[in-house]
Amino acid sequence: IKHIGVMTSGGDAPGMNAAIRAVVRACTFHKIKCTGIYRGYQGMIENDFEELNARSVRNIINKGGTFLKSARSKEFRTADGRKKAYDNLKEANIDALVVIGGDGTFTGAKVFNDEFDFPIVGLPGTIDNDINGTDYTIGYDTALNTAVEAIDKIRDTANSHNRLFLVEVMGRHAGDIALNSGIGAGAEEILIPEENLGYDRMIESLKRSKKSGKTSSIIVVAEGDRTGENIVELAEYIKANLEGYEVRFTVLGHIQRGGAPSCYDRVLASRLGVGAVDALVAGQRDIMVGVVHKKVTYVSFKKAIAGENEIDTDLIRVADIVSI
Ligand code: F6P
Repeated sequence: IKHIGVMTSGGDAPGMNAAIRAVVRACTFHKIKCTGIYRGYQGMIENDFEELNARSVRNIINKGGTFLKSARSKEFRTADGRKKAYDNLKEANIDALVVIGGDGTFTGAKVFNDEFDFPIVGLPGTIDNDINGTDYTIGYDTALNTAVEAIDKIRDTANSHNRLFLVEVMGRHAGDIALNSGIGAGAEEILIPEENLGYDRMIESLKRSKKSGKTSSIIVVAEGDRTGENIVELAEYIKANLEGYEVRFTVLGHIQRGGAPSCYDRVLASRLGVGAVDALVAGQRDIMVGVVHKKVTYVSFKKAIAGENEIDTDLIRVADIVSI
């Protein structure tokens, strides 16, 4: 491997800059040329390349977002788009790629590798934590801390006004952000897509907690949860079926994607960035680098994106017990 291209793709996540920095500096360490590809697969199609060196990535470890920018490319889903991308990589003499992103990014990488036999290694960069083969994805820890900070603030109003607040958090089809921020912020109820227990159980549980002396309530709702049609409808249902609380809802939205990465995310990104270049140097391809039980590990793209998101059932039990 003489020349690696690095890019970020899909939704941005805090720590992506730290990951790019680690890849670029690991390339310098291994005496490999490194090129940044702007706007993910779209930039690959449009030849949006820039050579990077160890100094090009200074002062970015603490910055949210991604300086290489990100996109979800429709054109890369077409055979024509991928051929253009391949031709541009060949033209630039790039002989391997490090892609930082989530399941869409890895799906693209797998198809591209199958078609052109091109060495690609992935890094899990998404706030959703919905990738197999790594305990945590880059950005997840920061997003959790942002969500908890926001819910703590909402708690002040919930408490002062004896209100019930529904707070929607991100996660796409995964409940990791909801479950963990819910426990961390002391929510009464946590609604996640992995466990749909329906309206009745929720109302009964809220009635029980009110009876036990609680004067306000916070329900954290994963955006992928299907208990109700959406958070507005859920709030209406609770208003109609539970007495004693004023009901409000808040959608945290993209605030969860921004901001300076936590130390955990910076260290994770640094480890995985170095791990990705090490993997390519060792002849690995078509894999994602993750950390499992504190150790850097490899998993095929296929496995990384396979199946439904898994949630720790023990954590659901903990959430039930600590919200009594
Ligand atoms: O994958 C990250 C994520 O923030 C999800 O949690 C969310 O469903 C989605 O991206 C939002 O995407 P967009 O920024 O394109 O609206």
